[in-house]
Formats: sequence, structure tokens, C-alpha cells
Amino acid sequence: MRIIADVDTGIDDALALVAVAAHVDAELVGVTTTTGNTTSHLAARNSAAVLSLVGRDDVPVLVGSSKPLEVPVATTPETHGEFGLGYSTAPEAITGPFSEHGIEELWLPELREHPGQTTLLVTGPLTNLAIALRAEPELPRLARRVVIMGGAFNYPGNTTPSAEWNAWCDPHAAAEVYAAFSGLEADRLPIVAGLNVTETVELTPADLDELAIGAGARPPHLTARSARDVGPADTGVPLVNLVTDALRFYFEFHADHGYGYLAQVHDLLAAQIALGEVDPTMSPQWVGVEKESALTRGTTVADFRQLLHRPANARVVTAVDARASVEAFKASVARLI
Ligand code: BDR
Ligand code: CA
Repeated sequence: MRIIADVDTGIDDALALVAVAAHVDAELVGVTTTTGNTTSHLAARNSAAVLSLVGRDDVPVLVGSSKPLEVPVATTPETHGEFGLGYSTAPEAITGPFSEHGIEELWLPELREHPGQTTLLVTGPLTNLAIALRAEPELPRLARRVVIMGGAFNYPGNTTPSAEWNAWCDPHAAAEVYAAFSGLEADRLPIVAGLNVTETVELTPADLDELAIGAGARPPHLTARSARDVGPADTGVPLVNLVTDALRFYFEFHADHGYGYLAQVHDLLAAQIALGEVDPTMSPQWVGVEKESALTRGTTVADFRQLLHRPANARVVTAVDARASVEAFKASVARLI
């Protein structure tokens, strides 16, 4: 399976890249970045750092759009750390430069040269996907499958009371993307994993210890009480160090926001769905995105009762096996060592 990962790496985007790199049947043809969790340039550096640690320096990393279609740039260092990968310093070794033409140089040639073969995994704001759809309206038929992490369906937001981060960051792109898929056959519709399912996938310190042991590393034994005082991870395995340093920051963020000392790893789930490692329950629905309202900007609305009588434009994920996701991730890391 050929796959392009479009990311704003980002702690959970990093885990998504690990899952893709580890999958035996996935051919990661390239990574593009957008601005969301951090800037598109830092996201490129972070993505390249992850790929380097999994032995995939050969995978091209290109920057896509550096800003949303219409709204001002927003990033979230409080969620993902000052440079986007929590406490990990691994990206400091990466110098770039990165091409800034990810859509023209990677997406469009790949989709046109390999029609029906390439999965697009999008785990940041939908800016690059919207730009690609403008450049190539046949994209829904050229891609094998589109899998998106974004939105919150019949579920509260994590950025405003009703909006999820990726949809809030670039609501115009999100609205444009869903409109572009309107009325297509069900198997052409993007698969969308929103907070209603991604918040069920939680990685805990105990999972991290098991992951480390499975990869032949020393378990980091992070605890809420000691975590802020510990230095860089020293597990003996560089990839596990990166995962630990990144997750330690994410654990603290979630603890500070009342979720407990754990991490909801949204983008990892989307990657696993794209890879076929997690089998989602899905419902074809019409999805709309609020663009203008100050109160509800980025809110994703799925018309579950077909009150608007509009054709479906997305396959909304309504349930997943969350533990299967966590266990699959441990296996992914072990496979890479
Ligand atoms: C999404 O926003 C980002 O913080 C994560 O990387 C994920 O893609 C969750 O709302
Ligand atoms: Ca992301």
C-alpha cells in the first residue's frame, strides 16, 4: 500500500509516522507538512527526526502550506512543546532544508502516476488537502483512500466547546474538503476519525513501559509526581527515547487538563485505520464545518438523522477497539528495533 502522510508533527503525529514506518505492507512514499501543532517547517524537521530514528532517512519530507487558507496562523506549543515534539531534542540534529512545494512535487505526481493506489493520511489541518483538491479535482478518484483525523461528532471539542483543533485551525479548508467529496460513492468518501473515537485511545505510563520492554529498552517508569523533574529519557534505544520524551510532555498536558496522567493519541488511531490495523465502525454522513461564527468556528456537524437531505460526503468513524490500537502500537515499535 502506497501512502502519503500529511502531518503537523506534533507528538501524536510522530506516533502515526512510527506506525506507518513499521507496517510491513506500507510504502511510505513521502511526508508533507502543514502548520497546526507547530509551524510547517518545524513539523518537517520533527517528521524527519522520527523517520531518521526508524531508519527511513530515504523518505522525502516536504513542506506544504505554511498557513491556513483564510484565518491567521495558530500553533499550540502548550500541547506539543515549544518545538512540537514535547521534550524530545532529537529534531535538533536535523538541518533540512525542505522543499516548500509538497503538493506540486509529491502529491500531484504521485496521485497521477499511481491512480487508485495511494492512501492519503491527513493528521493535521486540512489545508494541504484543500489545496490539492483545487489543483486536482479528480483527487477523490485518484487516491486509493483518504483518512483524516479531525472533527468531533456528537461530541465536545478540545479547542473550543464544540471544535476540534485541526478543524478549528483551518475551518475553510475543512469545509472545502468535505464539499469536494459530496455525492461520491461510499467507498470514495474520506474516513474521518474525530475526537468521539480518538479520545478513547489512551496511552498510559504502564503502556509505555510495556512498549519499551517489547523493544528491548529499559522501561522509563514515568509517574505523574516525578515526571517534571526527570531529564531526557535514557532507555538505551533512541526511538524509545524519542517516544518517551514526547509522551512525557503529552502526559503532563493531559494531566493539567483533567484527563489524568495519560495521552490521547488521536493521530495514531487514524494511521492505524489507514493501515488496516484497527477496523473502525463507520457511518456515511453529510458533514459540514462552521467557518465564520466566533463561538462555533471549526465545529463539525454530521447530519446523523438526515434532516438536511444532503448526500453523504464522509465516512464518520463511530466506534473503534481502543485497546487494539494501543497493542498494535507496541507491536509497531518492537518491529522497528
Ligand atoms: C489533533 O490536534 C492535534 O493537537 C493532534 O496532533 C491531533 O491531530 C487532535 O485534536
Ligand atoms: Ca496532528
